[in-house]
Amino acid sequence: MKKYLLILPLLLLFQCKEKTTSKETTKKPIVGVITEKAMVVCAREEASKIGLDVMRKGGNAFDAMIATDLALAVSYPFAGNIGGGGFMVYRTKDGKIGALDYREKAPLATHHDFYLDKEGNVIPDKSTLGANAVGVPGTIAGLFKVHEKFGTIPFKELIQPAINMAKRGVIVTKKQAEAIEKYKAGFKKANHRTILLDKNWKAGDTIKYIQLAKTLERIRDNGRDEFYKGKTADILVSYLKDLGGVITKEDLAKYEAKWRKPISFTYKDTKIISMSPPSSGGICLAQILKTIEPYNIKQYQHNSVKYVQLITEAERRAYADRAYFLGDSDFIHIAIDSLISSDYLKNRMRNFSWNKANTSAEIAHGKLNGLESNETTHYSIVDQFGNAVAVTTTLNGAYGSKVYVKEGGFLLNNEMDDFSIKPGFANSYGLVGAEANAVAPEKRMLSSMSPTIVEQNGKLKMVLGSPGGSTIITSVMQNILNVIEFNMGMQESVSQPRFHHQWLPDNIRFELTFNKTIFPKLEQLGYSIEQANAPVIGKVDAILVLPNGKLEAGADPRGDDKAAGF
Ligand code: GLY
Repeated sequence: MKKYLLILPLLLLFQCKEKTTSKETTKKPIVGVITEKAMVVCAREEASKIGLDVMRKGGNAFDAMIATDLALAVSYPFAGNIGGGGFMVYRTKDGKIGALDYREKAPLATHHDFYLDKEGNVIPDKSTLGANAVGVPGTIAGLFKVHEKFGTIPFKELIQPAINMAKRGVIVTKKQAEAIEKYKAGFKKANHRTILLDKNWKAGDTIKYIQLAKTLERIRDNGRDEFYKGKTADILVSYLKDLGGVITKEDLAKYEAKWRKPISFTYKDTKIISMSPPSSGGICLAQILKTIEPYNIKQYQHNSVKYVQLITEAERRAYADRAYFLGDSDFIHIAIDSLISSDYLKNRMRNFSWNKANTSAEIAHGKLNGLESNETTHYSIVDQFGNAVAVTTTLNGAYGSKVYVKEGGFLLNNEMDDFSIKPGFANSYGLVGAEANAVAPEKRMLSSMSPTIVEQNGKLKMVLGSPGGSTIITSVMQNILNVIEFNMGMQESVSQPRFHHQWLPDNIRFELTFNKTIFPKLEQLGYSIEQANAPVIGKVDAILVLPNGKLEAGADPRGDDKAAGF
């Protein structure tokens, strides 16, 4: 969350503009970009436009996804990547749903106690900074997998705009200049040499990514295996070896992106489709929404004491279950149906009281009765045919492990920190975990990424997702409620202040813009309020299908995010 401090000035500005109650915002709705047929919303305008151009030329949302993802790898090195991984949830024009997992996985040489010293203590920074924090990247495998199944335009044409942009250069935004400055010490520590981002980059400068352009050209010419078996693989492995890392060519050669069955569930009259394990996103989202489903949410004012209280108690219980039950479903059994069943969730709320906060000490994970587990970027796309894709991709921390493969021109993730490196030890998002998410060779680390699609009356309603580590799930959940329960438009919804509870630490994080008048009452009920570490929560980029069939974008004003459509 500290990573968000750099966005503080924007947030204060935003606070001045947005100092309205939800009642007032209903009177004067904030309206986003509205288009007739197609839309891309992502973290950089340049990338949205590249995705849109693909659809203008007749490409579909999947073609646009590939071009947008690669454009973000160039224009948004903070989280866009070819050295990380991600998840996609899709809904085709004829209503078929699916999900792709291109999450990183643990190198073969890692093991349960890889991040502990001989005394069993966590080795500082090992899972977050430098070569040993890196999981085997999945992005390039993921993009080729999408292309194989859904692509209609040759991959070479989809990668070319990113290559052109890398050669031409990308203008540094104010936020980007601040972020680069903030993480310079990390780059030095991780690389033992200077890297492209070390220079004194200022807003308005143009960074040319020449080495990255060369890597993308090799991928264009040689295909997927260039990254996993070719020269790029050699460069990556040799650099990590120099830095003391353990990823081998065997690790790269064995990597596979996987089609998964998404988590799908109903909330009142909507069907929600979100990411399955190894992400916790879909299950947690289902648990929270199905826990509050029996309540008449509309009767509580948006972001009022009762609204925050009910959602907090649902979140507390969902994150307690996350910590205990969830991990990579290829390695452990997860009783998904039980975890999201209404009976189980009703029972979890049996000790909820409107008069007093529960504590996380008294709420452990649930009992399953022997039945059947911040820095990221999200984009949403709807095409002119009616296909929709929601993609969340990440290096994990800002600029990942900070390891920059100079000859390849790209950064590598620090996704290994998403494992539970020691039971009960909090990762960089403050999340704790247990055996289900322990490190094991070739295992995928548990994620919170929640690319999500909402249907109503059998039709596409919303496409959304967010970065923000543990806060992704609750950011997505609040935007679903803003639209479904409070009838907000997409931009209005995305612009609302947000809050978050994740079981441990036992506090409610509120954005600085949140209406503070409810805090005394919440404190009186026993809730602990946290604002220091949460200037902003999530950065939601979403698309809403309006009743007249047009598309409204919600581009999160917390970042440089922009929509483009036709
Ligand atoms: N690296 C953040 C997540 O996957 O949840």
